[in-house]
Amino acid sequence: MSKPSNTGPANKPASTPPTKPNAGEDRRGFVAIAAGAIGAIVAAVPVLAGLRVFADPLTRTPKKKSTTDGALENGMIRVATLDAMPEIGKVYRFPVVATREDKWSRYDAHPIGTVFLRRTSAAERPVAFTSVCPHLGCSVDIKGDVYKCPCHNSTWTIEGERINPESCPSPRDLDELEVEVKGNDVFIAYKRFRGGIEEQIEE
Ligand code: FES
Repeated sequence: MSKPSNTGPANKPASTPPTKPNAGEDRRGFVAIAAGAIGAIVAAVPVLAGLRVFADPLTRTPKKKSTTDGALENGMIRVATLDAMPEIGKVYRFPVVATREDKWSRYDAHPIGTVFLRRTSAAERPVAFTSVCPHLGCSVDIKGDVYKCPCHNSTWTIEGERINPESCPSPRDLDELEVEVKGNDVFIAYKRFRGGIEEQIEE
């Protein structure tokens, strides 16, 4: 009786069964994933904070104009007090100082122009002219009872009318500004107008 051959497939060494990851490997994998996730979150925090700061101005509504010492709700700017112009009929010059704010920046106590104020009586509100020349925008002076522009010699009466309209370089009278008085405080609606044209058109 012949011996059974031991070279058949039944005698091949059995292939190694796939090994299951042991518990230690599972833990290491979990720790690696968790560490990666935490690292991503930590890295994202400053980026998100920066984006928030960057985008914040886009959600703000800028204030058009205000003053450091008070403004009316309609945007008028406080420029003087009645006490600061005691003489009826005299022209006083005052700076216009305002806080400007846009979506990105705030500029405190920023000079934006000058105005002439004159009281015509104790009861009436003062008359105000901007000092910006209606010709090409130079700064107008007051000499006695005459307003004069040093750039091309335009002249105006104390009421702001051109003295020689035919020869005056300025195409119009001085630009008058709206005035309000609240108690002792004098407010103006400060505006700038286009120069070199007859019509008074706000810039
Ligand atoms: S800018 Fe004033 S007269 Fe020309």
